[in-house]
Amino acid sequence: MARNDKNWWRDGIFYQIYPRSFQDADGDGVGDLAGILRRLPYVKSLGVDAIWLSPIFPSPMADFGYDISDYTGIEPLFGTMEDFDALIAAVHDNGLKLILDLVPNHTSDQHPWFVESRSSRDNPKRDWYIWRDPAGDGGVPNNWLSEFGGSAWQLDEATGQYYYHAFLAQQPDLNWRNPDVRSAIYDVMRFWLEKGVDGFRVDVIWHLVKDAEFRDNPPNPRYVEGRPPNERILTQYSTDQPEVHDVIAEMRRVTDAYSARVLIGEIYLPLHRLMAYYGNDLTGAQMPFNFALLSTFWSARSIEKIVEDYEKALPRGAWPNWVLGNHDRPRVASRVGTEQARVAAMLLLTLRGTPTLYYGDEIGMHQVAIAPEDVRDPFEKNVPGIGVGRDGCRTPMQWDASKFAGFSSVRPWLPLPEHCVRDNVASLEADPRSILNLYKRLIGLRQSCPQLIAGDYHPVAAQGDLLIYRREAEGRAVIVALNLGADPVTATTSAVRFGSRILLSTFLDREGEGIEGVLELRGNEGVIVAPP
Ligand code: GLC
Repeated sequence: MARNDKNWWRDGIFYQIYPRSFQDADGDGVGDLAGILRRLPYVKSLGVDAIWLSPIFPSPMADFGYDISDYTGIEPLFGTMEDFDALIAAVHDNGLKLILDLVPNHTSDQHPWFVESRSSRDNPKRDWYIWRDPAGDGGVPNNWLSEFGGSAWQLDEATGQYYYHAFLAQQPDLNWRNPDVRSAIYDVMRFWLEKGVDGFRVDVIWHLVKDAEFRDNPPNPRYVEGRPPNERILTQYSTDQPEVHDVIAEMRRVTDAYSARVLIGEIYLPLHRLMAYYGNDLTGAQMPFNFALLSTFWSARSIEKIVEDYEKALPRGAWPNWVLGNHDRPRVASRVGTEQARVAAMLLLTLRGTPTLYYGDEIGMHQVAIAPEDVRDPFEKNVPGIGVGRDGCRTPMQWDASKFAGFSSVRPWLPLPEHCVRDNVASLEADPRSILNLYKRLIGLRQSCPQLIAGDYHPVAAQGDLLIYRREAEGRAVIVALNLGADPVTATTSAVRFGSRILLSTFLDREGEGIEGVLELRGNEGVIVAPP
């Protein structure tokens, strides 16, 4: 891939690192930038193209870095600006790209902007946040709920007004209708772009603009008991407002003023609304994250339908992308099971569109069970016991069989599972048929195969647990056949012709095998096939 190509992000593969949990270099039980630098050869060995770092900026850590108190500094727990400069230089020297997390929807309540804003009603920064008078009865201004439980309004006793926080009370929302807020954040973006970062993943981008009249949100008629309480109301007026697209187009103009940068949006919305985030004439985010695989029922027909709907809904010229895991959702290996995790890897790396991998998924990491006394996630603390906790997917990377899995010399901030003695990078690297080696082979195959990078997607009719599709470019195709079930299946499709050859099986033991008749798949097996 030409690294200065402005479309590098289309051909590339993204790898998300949760900095607290990748590698601890200074022995405090929390990962840091020097640790990431030390593990760069590993990231490089995977064959991925870009690293996205979850937030590394100064933060009181109420939401583990998604509550920022200084947008242009480095959190001391993670290191210094010199560490950052060293990291970005090394990333670029290795031919990789670096993406930072931009969190423009809210700051920490400790951010100087908010400290000023709350200091008095007539402070010049008052309007940088969302302040409202109490309702007639002295209560909250409207019925909007925090994603992390309870009302989204917090009373500031001293000034007698409420401020809005879509997440924790320690994360007040900025007022994106205020032009000064916009330019302040665009300056933050320029600060990092000047330092050479290759783009941003923009946190909760669909939240940025709120209804100008702060109307009550309607109840959710489909609320399911046991689900998080904020789902009792829809977010009709608190998120996804039409004006947000102007803001995103402005952000895009900021990144487009620099060469070859990418804007990625975090958006949890139904398909038809997600598509608007590409913007008019594709002037919005280049990659509005597609999270459909995070919540799908894991069956051949559901996934086939998701891909078909997504492909159909894409605006003309829009580039697709796929995500299998992140720091907010249960690990893919736990969602689909250890056996299917390999099939999921093949799916992610053979669909049309940029794949984003979540650290640790390539070694098959599972959700780690978190004892009540070990819970760190504020979401779980506020809304306990219904399974919303995110600690289990944020545990330390399992590097080797040593005491703290090679992650740290001391007890890490989140627990390691006992089985990490067996399931770790060192042992899996040594096992030629491990999931880690499967990931490397899949990545290598994708990188060297124009059909897999850029080819069209064509579904191939199949039944039961079989999912089959063809990726076609330059007049040639490869076929991907995935068995989403545990029983063997026979693919009787004419798409796999006599004389076809297996390029890769998820079990890593059929490479080069010729297909003489029909294609037989073992339970939980996926294969990539080249026609004669
Ligand atoms: C995003 C982040 C999540 C965070 C939330 C509030 O959804 O991915 O981790 O808690 O925003 O910033």
